[in-house]
Amino acid sequence: MTTTQRAVLIRAYGGASAAEIAEVSRPSAGDGQVLVRVRAAGINGIDWKVREGLVQKAFSLQLPAVLGIELAGVIEAVGPGASRFRVGDRVMGPLGRLGAYAEVVAVDEANLVRTPQDLDDAHAAAIPVAAVAAWQSLHLAGPIAAGQRILIHGAAGGLGGYAVQYAKRAGAEVFATASAAHLTYVDSLGADHVIDYRSQRFESVAQHIDLVLDYAGGEVLDRSWEVLNKNGAIVSAAAPDILARTPPGRRGLWFQNKADAGLLERLAAEIAQGSLISKLSEVVGFGDIPAAIERNRIGPRIGKVVADFSR
Ligand SMILES: NC(=O)c1ccc[n+]([C@@H]2O[C@H](COP(=O)([O-])OP(=O)(O)OC[C@H]3O[C@@H](n4cnc5c(N)ncnc54)[C@H](OP(=O)(O)O)[C@@H]3O)[C@@H](O)[C@H]2O)c1
Repeated sequence: MTTTQRAVLIRAYGGASAAEIAEVSRPSAGDGQVLVRVRAAGINGIDWKVREGLVQKAFSLQLPAVLGIELAGVIEAVGPGASRFRVGDRVMGPLGRLGAYAEVVAVDEANLVRTPQDLDDAHAAAIPVAAVAAWQSLHLAGPIAAGQRILIHGAAGGLGGYAVQYAKRAGAEVFATASAAHLTYVDSLGADHVIDYRSQRFESVAQHIDLVLDYAGGEVLDRSWEVLNKNGAIVSAAAPDILARTPPGRRGLWFQNKADAGLLERLAAEIAQGSLISKLSEVVGFGDIPAAIERNRIGPRIGKVVADFSR
């Protein structure tokens, strides 16, 4: 049996060329783990942030490190103490760490769920982080009441597309920012007010907001306090320094996603049934992952990008 495999890794922090395809050793399944043969993996904003060394506090890494945080694939082996899956089961989930861009990955079985029959691997790999993170961040500041006014920055992105749909279902009035080319998509998800953040100041449309979901970061966060109700909250998934940037007496919360297999199972079933839209805008091959990570940093796109390992 071969002892090495292909992976996308970084040897040092850096720009686009820091991520490379290389041979690494194949893992074995530890206690409570399964070995997953990866068929598809989601590309995420965290990939280029890790690559550039911007999130070293959250992800203290020993280099070289394999990138990638979510996958879909097939169980290849079951480790000691793992009992939920059998060899051959199709599974999907977040890793809870880095390392998904490799042919075979050892994963804590608690993070994984069975992939619904009607969901192909590429679509399954787009769901574990974004769909769950959008749900968790929407509910972080407290229950959503019907009629609440929610402003979602980055509504066309991986998290944003799900958050618009969850917020609408909860009965909220949704204000959503995106670039001009993505407004029709955001509108189709049910947003009540779509705002082109490049040509329009969101402050001129969105006022008396109860909850801001910041999936964009930067100056957008600092400008959002003025549209927020006195008792409202800003939840940011994009600005880890939100607490330092929260004015006295206001409520700013940093969101950190956590694996939740029960929630993932429910959301994946809804997507498979077609009652929740999960937008896959691009599928790339394994060899294109380093370029796709860089495009994620700079390029406009809607929804998610995934790598299909069979390509
Ligand atoms: N803390 C956590 O646990 C956690 C978990 C997952 C993700 N994240 C972070 O959450 C953020 C969103 O993730 P994602 O996967 O949804 O990213 P994404 O797919 O890249 O989406 C980000 C969106 O931000 C929009 N945007 C850029 N500048 C903007 C501005 N000035 N105003 C409004 N929108 C703007 C872009 O819209 P257009 O394309 O329309 O221009 C893009 O669709 C990223 O920073 C990611 O790293 C954090």
